[in-house]
Amino acid sequence: MLRSCLDGKRVTRIYLDHNATTPPHPLVVERMAAALHEAFGNPSSVHHFGQAAKAALDETRSAVAGLIGADPSEVVFTSGGTESDNFAIRGVAEALEVTGRRHLIASAIEHEAVLNTLKALARRGWRTTLLPVDHSGIVAPDALREALTDDTALVSVMHANNEIGTIQPIAELARLAKARGAVFHTDAVQSAGKMPVDVKALGVDLLSLSAHKFYGPKGVGALWIRRGLRLQAPTTGGKQERGRRAGTENVAGIVGLGVAAQMAERKMVDEAARLAPLRDRLEEGILGGVPGTAINGTRSPRVPNTTNISFERVEAESLLIALDLAGIAVSTGSACSSGTLEPSHVLKAMGFPPHRTQNSIRFSLGAANTDADVDRVLAVLPGIVEKLRSLTRAPARV
Ligand SMILES: Cc1ncc(COP(=O)(O)O)c(C=O)c1O
Repeated sequence: MLRSCLDGKRVTRIYLDHNATTPPHPLVVERMAAALHEAFGNPSSVHHFGQAAKAALDETRSAVAGLIGADPSEVVFTSGGTESDNFAIRGVAEALEVTGRRHLIASAIEHEAVLNTLKALARRGWRTTLLPVDHSGIVAPDALREALTDDTALVSVMHANNEIGTIQPIAELARLAKARGAVFHTDAVQSAGKMPVDVKALGVDLLSLSAHKFYGPKGVGALWIRRGLRLQAPTTGGKQERGRRAGTENVAGIVGLGVAAQMAERKMVDEAARLAPLRDRLEEGILGGVPGTAINGTRSPRVPNTTNISFERVEAESLLIALDLAGIAVSTGSACSSGTLEPSHVLKAMGFPPHRTQNSIRFSLGAANTDADVDRVLAVLPGIVEKLRSLTRAPARV
């Protein structure tokens, strides 16, 4: 629960939108502020000040590597999940263009950072295939088996989905892709820091993560690149990041990423064990207390903090606004598409009819949430839904 002051009135606010972003942990903020003062040098400079900044980068490289079971030398810092996804997909596409492989595969429920990158490459002549999912929100390995050709350069399937939280069978999908000679990338922006992620166990070649999804700052993330993988650099310039990404590093942001990664590694398992029952109680309370509700996607395997629920005969945007007025922050799904009435591409890909893609709300829990928050949501939500329904005369649709 967060308390804020609005027009002199104290308002209790409950934040249930942690998949959009998380508040930076106070230690992250403290260490970033210290880094701005003490590690202001250019990490490429050979003198003391530069080396102090470089040492800060090295510390984070080890922390990120520790979080995902990797070697520090394989971690490249980026400006976040979007850049990491672009870097991975465009980097492989450009590096493999000369081999004649001109086919890219992704799942239909990827984040826009992946989907729009594929669209951009399709305009440049790349053949692209989107893998379907069923009502469970999971990619079937058989769908990938059928889509793979000898021409496939890269397969990109996200580890956990940002809207519904489902976890994909990455190890199996990566095995299939690699057996056909394709490179495998996973967007782990919604799993890294929330659940154990191990690049070796997953068997992937590339993995994206983003600091602001696990209590770090915005605008900083990493791409893990398996040693030996050929990848075109996204920028031309200096030799930073061993020539893999030119541009002076965002030292303070990277320090924040490192602190967040260390804390996540330490707390992740206990926090998941605390959040999953809290999420489940919220979910059960809504399903039991509000008629005409259903969960979107399978309940397992799923990240511990997320549930996505459809509310029959309620427009999601209206519910989101009514909940916000009651001090409860939720989302209609992907942060990028909220604020518009665009139906969720994830729910659409899962085969849900148009009304259901527009009546669904994502609740994503995090560190500050408690039993009292769940009690409050369960106390106010039924009345809000009933009121919204009384304003519409549309017939019930399941
Ligand atoms: C699955 C997924 N990939 C990529 C991104 C983009 O990450 P960033 O906000 O760091 O650019 C997000 C952000 O919501 C995401 O959820």
